[in-house]
Amino acid sequence: MKLFLIGLLLLAATGTALAVYRTQNITYPGGGAGPVVFSGEHHSQPCSSCHSPDVFPQMQQGATPVTMAAIDQGKLCGSCHNGSLAFASQGNCQRCHQQQ
Ligand code: HEC
Ligand code: HEC
Ligand code: HEC
Repeated sequence: MKLFLIGLLLLAATGTALAVYRTQNITYPGGGAGPVVFSGEHHSQPCSSCHSPDVFPQMQQGATPVTMAAIDQGKLCGSCHNGSLAFASQGNCQRCHQQQ
């Protein structure tokens, strides 16, 4: 019974995090290149593929500064946006940076 209750609590906690995340967009100003919208809806990978010590360790917007140089070196967004797991950063500027 006790284990069952703990299970229910864990389920409730995860459910809340999911609800916060999936429907959410994170908008980066994007320097001179135009704003970048990261959408939870288009990123349905397991949480741990991004929220791991080497990528985005914290579930908190703005905790990890993102630069284009890091992405081009295959870090942060570039750990997937490298032309093999997802479209590459080079040559696809406008798939991330929205022009006004
Ligand atoms: C494709 C990458 C990716 C995946 C997968 C991912 N996240 Fe995130 N998440 C991010 C990024 C990037 C941020 C912003 C972190 C930062 O700025 O350091 C973030 C932030 C968050 C935040 C904070 C939002 C805010 O407004 O501060 C929560 C909560 C969160 N994620 C939960 C989750 C959960 C739960 C999952 C799994 C269902 C998940 N994330 C999967 C990339 C991802
Ligand atoms: C865990 C791998 C992963 C990480 C990390 C990741 N992405 Fe993605 N992203 C994907 C995949 C997979 C797609 C969809 C496949 C494709 O179009 O190549 C995608 C699609 C996108 C799209 C297109 C969505 C649409 O409108 O169709 C944008 C924009 C994007 N990602 C931005 C980002 C940004 C910004 C970051 C970093 C904050 C990031 N991604 C980190 C895997 C990732
Ligand atoms: C996978 C998504 C993605 C792609 C593709 C992408 N960018 Fe970015 N870019 C970002 C994110 C996220 C930031 C961080 C923005 C911030 O923190 O305001 C950024 C930042 C920048 C900046 C601001 C200064 C800097 O160096 O960080 C410039 C300029 C830039 N990108 C240019 C480009 C150009 C040019 C291309 C195409 C060759 C490109 N980007 C492709 C996501 C992307």
